[in-house]
Amino acid sequence: MGLKEELEAIKQKGISSIAETTDIKNLNDIRVKLLGKKGPITQSLRGIAKLSVEERPVVGSFANKIRDELATAISEKQAKLEAEKLNRKLAEETIDVTLPGNQVPAGHPHIIQETIDEIESIFMGMGYQVLTGPEVEEEYYNFEMMNLPKNHPARDMQDTFYITKEILMRTHTSPMQARTLEKHDFSKGPLKMISPGVVFRRDTDDPTHSHQFHQVEGIVIDKHITMADLKGTLEVMTHKLFGDKFKVRLRPSYFPFTEPSVEADITCMNCNGKGCDVCKGSGWIEVLGAGMVHPNVLKMAGVDAEEYGGFAFGVGPDRFAMLKYGVNDIRDFYLNDLRFLKQFD
Ligand code: DAH
Repeated sequence: MGLKEELEAIKQKGISSIAETTDIKNLNDIRVKLLGKKGPITQSLRGIAKLSVEERPVVGSFANKIRDELATAISEKQAKLEAEKLNRKLAEETIDVTLPGNQVPAGHPHIIQETIDEIESIFMGMGYQVLTGPEVEEEYYNFEMMNLPKNHPARDMQDTFYITKEILMRTHTSPMQARTLEKHDFSKGPLKMISPGVVFRRDTDDPTHSHQFHQVEGIVIDKHITMADLKGTLEVMTHKLFGDKFKVRLRPSYFPFTEPSVEADITCMNCNGKGCDVCKGSGWIEVLGAGMVHPNVLKMAGVDAEEYGGFAFGVGPDRFAMLKYGVNDIRDFYLNDLRFLKQFD
């Protein structure tokens, strides 16, 4: 076989092995083997010396042509393999945006907290400031400053957890009335404040009692505030929380820190006021205590009770949430049973 045929055979073999390979690494091996110094083209060119002077350049340039052709075939194949590899990768990484996503379990505020947030935003909308006070409170603010002097029989209305003689777990959020009144500068405008928080009572837990529950205290002090303002305010709160068809009714009551004192009822949401088990047939549900702030409370906090007066109220978000969501055991709110809590997702 002549040198030219030999080179032609090398080319054919090379072309078919390039065509066959499907792997970039393997293609690289083929390149080294075919075109390298020890490759068949270089080897066969050794025989060029045996050729005549005229034939040498012809065969030489033929060999170069074959080398170029093989090199081109290799780089074309390389480009093809690389493109294939990229396409494969892109196909593997394709995201099917129509597939349903993985549900990440997300928490949410406790239903009582949500109720408090709702109450807060209603009152903020009416220009109230929201303040919080200490849960471990001085007996002085919890009772004394709320017009409940020592040995006052009404102290028994609220069974108390005492820490020392002077320090206790607050039994209501009302001490925030005194704390705020003491600091308020009336020359800068009226006082309009609500104070949400936890309160504590030495109660035995049962479906309607808990030794720990929540209250939102409210107080408005200015010149010329009347009980009509109180009723109007409670109506706004009730309409926003429950709906416009709910009515508010005030009944005379007694609290040492208000005079006159009232209890407020709203239309029973279970029977829409017709009378049922939940409202014990009356059509009304008691939801809060309120009244016109007692002059003694103002005086003790250093406020001129001749010039200034106003109303206060204390609402129970636990009770609101029970009524709104039909929960009939207050303890459910505190047991952290996920099956209960998840209802409000
Ligand atoms: N502090 C009272 C309680 O815990 C609730 C209350 C009644 C608050 C009348 C008030 C009020 O501000 O005016 O039972």
